[in-house]
Amino acid sequence: MKNTKGTKKGGIKGKRERYAEQRSRQSRNPKSERKPSAIKAQHAEARRSRRERRPVEYGSKSENSQYIQWFPGHMTRTKRKIQEDLKLVDAVAEIIDARVPMSSRNPDLPSMIGSKPRVILMNKCDLADPRATKQWAEHFKKQGVRAIELDCKTGAGIGNFTSAVSSVLADKIEMWKSKGMVNRSLRVMIVGIPNVGKSTFINRISKTSKAKTEDRPGVTRGNQWFTLTSGGVSVDLLDTPGVLWPRFDDQLVGEKLAFTGAVKDDVTDTEQLALRLLEYFRTRPTKVFCERFSLTPEEIAGSPAHELLDAIAKKRGMLVSGGEPDTERAAVMVLDEFRAAKLGRITLELPE
Ligand code: G4P
Repeated sequence: MKNTKGTKKGGIKGKRERYAEQRSRQSRNPKSERKPSAIKAQHAEARRSRRERRPVEYGSKSENSQYIQWFPGHMTRTKRKIQEDLKLVDAVAEIIDARVPMSSRNPDLPSMIGSKPRVILMNKCDLADPRATKQWAEHFKKQGVRAIELDCKTGAGIGNFTSAVSSVLADKIEMWKSKGMVNRSLRVMIVGIPNVGKSTFINRISKTSKAKTEDRPGVTRGNQWFTLTSGGVSVDLLDTPGVLWPRFDDQLVGEKLAFTGAVKDDVTDTEQLALRLLEYFRTRPTKVFCERFSLTPEEIAGSPAHELLDAIAKKRGMLVSGGEPDTERAAVMVLDEFRAAKLGRITLELPE
């Protein structure tokens, strides 16, 4: 499944891989060969430069957001491909990240799919704030859009998928029945931006549902379609999920997607990204965040983000020779912990 998409696994670089990269950078420029005074001067310079680039209050647009050098590619080609495949399906299931339900959607999708019925799958609910997820579910309901909550890691909520698809296709199913077409498969295209869990969803539903393997007219097994039966309903999923790109008109969208790992770390300045995330926590010092880094809400609110990063590095014993905080390593750790919800289950945006 993963190899069918050119973008696979691009989202989050493995922790080990990133540490290895750091180590190799360090070995190319061994600190042991540098004098302590030179190291101190270098760190002082880095701190000065960070202060100059100090992020503005979280939520405001700023030139700092330009540190994400990301250009969505193949946007037109992907749109065309999705539109071509639309005639093969009865409905579209859009997977979004429950932590960023707005930013992880492509606002062009409704116009792309026209009147085709659609279901929203709010995935990664295990990482999102449950109250915010309820608010989003309510929001989608008010808009007349069917949305279900999912955690594809454990499979929670996956059982609601076929009933959700059946409900948005109720009229069509009735029409099929009236024409004597009973037990017809519901054909669904899975779409979503990279890293929202499209492959995980398909793998998970294939494990929890009874998969069919026989040939059926119009269904090419193997590459193109994946056929399953769940709750007595037969569903064909397009097994090469449509990869949409998010819209980057608003740089904050890019930033939120970088926080969650949907935008690759290698196109962002990791330290700057972590500082922006700390800026978010400065104005919302959650209990989990305070406890995790042994900081009081007053300390957090009273320190600029770069000082917080220094403090976190020191508290975690991340130091370089000369006793200076290793902020690069600390930045990677802060982002990893946020992405794994170790800093709390956080939803970065609420319905307007
Ligand atoms: P994609 O096809 O849309 O690009 O996304 P993919 O399924 O590859 O999932 C991207 C990452 O998100 C994977 O983590 C996957 O395990 C994780 N993921 C998917 N659904 C959920 C969910 O509901 N909850 C949580 N917590 N994580 C989810 P990874 O670190 O890139 O890979 P791996 O370490 O799991 O192999």
